[in-house]
Amino acid sequence: MTRNILVCGGAGYIGSHMVRLLRDHGHQVVVFDNLSQGHAAAIPGVELVQGDLLNPADLADLFARHPVDAVIHFAALTAVGESVAAPDRYYRNNVCGTLNLLDAMRRAGVDRLVFSSTAAVFGSPLTELIDETHPLAPINPYGWSKRMTEQMLADMATAHGLRSVSLRYFNAAGAHPSGQIGEAHQPETHLVPLVLLAALGKREGLAIFGSDYPTRDGTCIRDYVHVSDLASAHLKALDFMNHETGAHVFNLGNGNGFTTLEVIEAARRVTGREIPFAMTGRRPGDAGILVADSRRAREVLGWQPQYGELETIIDSAWRWHQAPAYGPFASL
Ligand code: UFG
Repeated sequence: MTRNILVCGGAGYIGSHMVRLLRDHGHQVVVFDNLSQGHAAAIPGVELVQGDLLNPADLADLFARHPVDAVIHFAALTAVGESVAAPDRYYRNNVCGTLNLLDAMRRAGVDRLVFSSTAAVFGSPLTELIDETHPLAPINPYGWSKRMTEQMLADMATAHGLRSVSLRYFNAAGAHPSGQIGEAHQPETHLVPLVLLAALGKREGLAIFGSDYPTRDGTCIRDYVHVSDLASAHLKALDFMNHETGAHVFNLGNGNGFTTLEVIEAARRVTGREIPFAMTGRRPGDAGILVADSRRAREVLGWQPQYGELETIIDSAWRWHQAPAYGPFASL
């Protein structure tokens, strides 16, 4: 069934992969994005409304002009370290911005939302694998902003019947198999693209944040999950809301943790290049280990990740960083 889907933040990294998948499935898509991190070039042929969640008039106009059956909401600030230094920006954009979106949806009679949440809602984990029952105890403002939003969604379900699915991504990485879209933040703070830019000689190298974590080599452990697999979970979430009311949460990861040094080593194997690095101190706000138990997403949503291997994920990102399409993104 064709549906009208509004994708907030649809010109960004994960959002643009979502838009591609929605169109592959025949849905009508409109993207709302302030282009602070997004790129119009990432969504060719898709209607792009440039506007800001912090401006309610932009949202009112958007809903007045476009039929919307469901919203997928990626638009947020996402850098953990930056959120520690600028919490006000994070709460304003991520919490107030989403509240404005929910207001506009309610006025327009739109009652379905898929929300980009994060592993950062858990803080420092108490168990090796993190499932949805793990306590929520964020250790940085980014994680708090997402936790607060999840709470808003639960309360809006009770009060107004809003249906929602919050997908808690672990570490998004990789790029579309076509090589036409991928990750390009400005400035770049994420590990995989930084490692590949170093492999390409576009950066001198990278600093590893902390070598004294209680892990096998002292560096942080993360669960890297392919961006296309994240996108496919959103399609499942849209279907899920056809028969389920209320607010739901799912963790999305592969269940395999890799240290920062292991990521660098995997990238060295994939690229055949040296990747210089130096050990530095911990980055404020970083959890030592974040690895998902995603059984609920598999069992309840029927989610089946296709690109589970770390080297496959890095290889797709490596092809993107070398592809002609990357050029215009890199020079921004
Ligand atoms: N890292 C370095 N050096 C760098 C960049 C990163 O050592 O220059 C390390 C970080 O300390 C961390 C790992 O590499 O241990 C991954 O860091 P990223 O910045 O790529 O990702 P984060 O784990 O900080 O955050 C990401 C998303 C968040 C999400 C989180 C959940 O950006 O939105 O994953 O795991 F909440």
